Amino acid sequence: MSGSPVPSSPSPLPPMAELHLHIEGTLEPELIFDLAARNGISLPYQDVNDLRARYEFTDLQSFLDLYYANMAVLVTEEDFATMTTGYLRRAATAGVRHAEIFIDPQAHLARGVDLATSIGGVARALATSRADFGMSTSLIAAFLRDQPADEALAVLEDLIAMDAPIIGIGLDSAEVGHPPSEFTQVFDRAREAGLECVAHAGEEGPPAYISEALDVLHVSRIDHGIRAMEDDELVLRLVEEQVPMTVCPLSNVRLRAVTDLAAHPLPRMIEAGLNVSIHSDDPSYFGGYLDDNLDRVTSTFELSQATLALLAANSIRSSFLPEQRQGELLAEVEAWLSE
Ligand code: ADE
Ligand code: ZN
Repeated sequence: MSGSPVPSSPSPLPPMAELHLHIEGTLEPELIFDLAARNGISLPYQDVNDLRARYEFTDLQSFLDLYYANMAVLVTEEDFATMTTGYLRRAATAGVRHAEIFIDPQAHLARGVDLATSIGGVARALATSRADFGMSTSLIAAFLRDQPADEALAVLEDLIAMDAPIIGIGLDSAEVGHPPSEFTQVFDRAREAGLECVAHAGEEGPPAYISEALDVLHVSRIDHGIRAMEDDELVLRLVEEQVPMTVCPLSNVRLRAVTDLAAHPLPRMIEAGLNVSIHSDDPSYFGGYLDDNLDRVTSTFELSQATLALLAANSIRSSFLPEQRQGELLAEVEAWLSE
């Protein structure tokens, strides 16, 4: 060998845990067309470009309308497994080492797709994620807050009765006008069954929904939470308790929760000492996976390697992983920082 050794450049992104990812939000337009063809479904779009052109959202509801409509192509267990494997393959290239993945079972039940099919298909793909993609994974069933709480409770009972492979429950869909307290019974029952509890709060809804999710639903993680920044006292509490907050910058831009990325509160949240981590929400709809979110915030806010390592460590510590696996992944973050 001749010449001096080439210094190895640091890998661009640290190993991360993806904690805020709706599996149905990973349906890429190409896959929507493939699955529609597989199931003999005719779509109301001319082609992939026509569909993609509709990814112009004015708010959360305008996105949810398309998100729920496109789920029509998910019919068989195989469809759910195909979608999930596609996500895992892409996430592995983004540096995701662990993922806690949301599924919306009610959205499938409403179309006549039973729990065994939706949960079974996703869980089948997740079962080999470690072997296939070096990624540990778990599943969280999210309830739709714009549907009756009684329905959520009945679905939860069914999930418990079938011993569904879920680690916890979440709360999502249209937020404004649907405060967390409507779902007290559902979350009480989930805790009693030994399930972890998280909830979307403070995405479009007011800061009071964040307090309510903590005080009434006793969640251990807040999904989004960006509107906390409107309430100084709440920020102090969230810092003091180090409540995990799963922030999704590209989602917030695309759903117009912020005017543009430069106006995103992320730097202020970090500066305040909040326990924030970065996630992708519905990556196929919002223009990027976890690496894209990190790349964009890194360049927009000129984040240092140390800040990136902090965000990565927060994501790992905010996960529901056992301490030992958290320790292994935190050591990987340390190693990345000192490369
Ligand atoms: N379901 C899928 N994505 C969502 C989001 N960003 N907010 C609320 N519900 C969702
Ligand atoms: Zn979400």
